[in-house]
Order: sequence, then C-alpha cells, then structure tokens
Amino acid sequence: MIRTYAVWLAERHIVKPINAIAHVSRHSGYDTPEAREKWIRMLNALDIRTGDEIETLYEDYKRAAHNTVRYIEEFQHQSEQLTRLQNGLIMVLADMVESRDQCTGDHVFKTAAYTEIILCQLLKEGIYSNQLTEEYITEVVNSAPLHDVGKITVSDVILNKPGKLTDEEFRIMQSHTVEGGKIIDKAMSIVDEDTGYLTEAKNLALYHHEKWNGKGYPAGLKGEEIPLSARVMAVADVFDALISRRSYKEPFSIEKALSIIREDAGSHFDPLVVQAFLDAEDEVRRIAKLNLEP
Ligand code: C2E
Ligand code: SIN
Ligand code: SIN
Ligand code: FE
Repeated sequence: MIRTYAVWLAERHIVKPINAIAHVSRHSGYDTPEAREKWIRMLNALDIRTGDEIETLYEDYKRAAHNTVRYIEEFQHQSEQLTRLQNGLIMVLADMVESRDQCTGDHVFKTAAYTEIILCQLLKEGIYSNQLTEEYITEVVNSAPLHDVGKITVSDVILNKPGKLTDEEFRIMQSHTVEGGKIIDKAMSIVDEDTGYLTEAKNLALYHHEKWNGKGYPAGLKGEEIPLSARVMAVADVFDALISRRSYKEPFSIEKALSIIREDAGSHFDPLVVQAFLDAEDEVRRIAKLNLEP
C-alpha cells in the first residue's frame, strides 16, 4: 500500500514532469525564430508547480532555455551584420576601382543584378542543375562586384581614354583579369580558408573575358572549360557595357544591346546562358532602366 503510494507519488511528481520537459525539448527546433518561440512557449505552458526540487530544476531549465534563445539571436544578428558590412565594403571598394572619379555604383550593382537574374532563370529552367544551388548563386552574386578588381592596376589614362586603345594599351587593359586573380589569391591566403565565395570571385576575375569559342582572354578557355559563373558574368558585363556610356563609346539602346547578345550566342557567349538571359528579358529591362546616377 505504502509502496504503491510512493510509486504513484514518484510517477506524479518526478517522472511525469521530467518526461514532459524532455518531450517539449525533443520536439522543438531552434533554427527559426518561430521554432524558438514555440519551444519557450511550450516550456512555459508546462507550468510545473510541484513545490520541490523538480520545480527548481524546471525553473533552472527554463532560464537556460531563455538564455540559449537570446544567445542564438544575438549571434545571428551579429553574423548578419557582418555579412552586410562585408558586402557593403566590397561594393564600395569595387566601385572605387571601377569608376575612380565617377563613383555611382551603377556598373557594380547592375552586373551583380543581371548575374543573379540569369542564375535564377537557369535554376528555374533546370539548366546546369548539377552545378546550381541556392548557396552557389549567393556566392556568385556576392562576389560579382569583384570581377574587375584587377583594374586597380590599370592607369586612369588608359581606363578613361576617350578614343580607341593602342594594342599596347589594350594588352595592359586585358591584364586586369590576371591581376584580379592575383589580388583574390592574396585574400585567400590571408583568410586561409577555402570559402566558395573567394573561389567564385577568382573564377569571375580571371575568366569573365573568356569566350565560348575559345577566342577570349587571358587563357583562351573554350565552352564548359570556362567556369559557369564566368560564362554568366560575361553576358551581364557586356550587356551593361553596351547600354552604358563609356569614354570611348555612346550607349546603345536596350533593343540593340539585346540583339548583339543574341547574335553572339555560341561565339562569344554560352548559348544556354544567353537563352536564360533573354527568357528573363522583363527583369533585365527593369534593372537596365533603374537610374542610379546622382
Ligand atoms: P567595357 O567598356 O566595360 O567593356 C566590356 C566588354 O563589353 C568588352 O570587353 C566587350 O566585350 C564588350 N563591349 C564593349 N563595348 C562594345 C561594343 O561597342 N560592341 C561590342 N560588340 N562589344 C562591346 P573587351 O573588349 O575585352 O574590353 C575590355 C575593356 O577594355 C572595356 O571594358 C574597356 O574598359 C576597355 N576598352 C576596350 N576597347 C576600348 C577602346 O577602344 N577604348 C577605350 N578607351 N577602352 C577600351
Ligand atoms: C570594345 O570596343 O570594347 C570591344 C570591342 C568588341 O569586343 O567588340
Ligand atoms: C573590363 O572588362 O575591363 C571592363 C568591363 C567592366 O567594366 O566591367
Ligand atoms: Fe573586365
């Protein structure tokens, strides 16, 4: 009789509450704000009031849970801030390299935007699906602003020359690809970790002037030897160059630029990438028409 009562007491005051806490914790996640909120809400709802060590344990556990959630949220906030800061600094740096005197961020922003549009379109159409993941797209889009970082080594005189470049000047201009690759190599050795982000930044810097037919520079790579990210950037970069004013050329209309890109599919550009670009024409036009000049 006494034994039965003791077992009943233990069951009611010890086993059940502990099982309840364990159950809540086992069935909760922490990875989204909603999951964390639910976890805390369910823990609070247990409302264990046994008036003994079990209640103390429950209160301690609740406090630890609260602290864990607060810690996760602070950590995530800081990590998001760092990512934003990193992306912001890269945009500003790349823009300074790019424009020297006229820093509008226009080219840097728009080439990244076209790159994202093309990659998302390819993903949607299931093209190159063995290479395309959300993570890959994020890496490529975030590193896109660095594709011309090697221009830091090219003098303003060449960069802003009003007329046609001499052969020697164009050779120096072309070196911005290899120089960009070296700069990113340096960054990689400092970071000392193989981030996909820097790998793609290097592919973009080195290979965005390669051509599908093998007649580009610096390596003369052909077809799928050229990294996918660089094949996408080639289209984004040239389209933006075509519709922009340069020291050496007037802007083309969007129609004219689109038709040049279409004509160069299979020679300059990967035809599947051009197809995706043209399939997303509405979004491309929306970015092209944004006026970011001050
Ligand atoms: P960018 O002006 O940003 O042009 C990037 C790429 O867009 C060029 O790479 C080229 O593939 C394409 N592109 C630009 N304008 C035209 C065009 O009118 N027609 C066609 N079909 N494609 C065009 P590319 O040729 O390797 O040139 C790399 C960079 O060298 C150019 O960047 C520009 O900064 C400079 N550059 C090239 N040609 C000249 C030039 O004649 N004068 C001067 N001042 N700079 C030049
Ligand atoms: C240019 O003038 O920048 C490029 C010429 C071309 O690749 O058609
Ligand atoms: C270049 O390739 O040097 C110019 C292309 C660009 O302005 O992005
Ligand atoms: Fe370039």
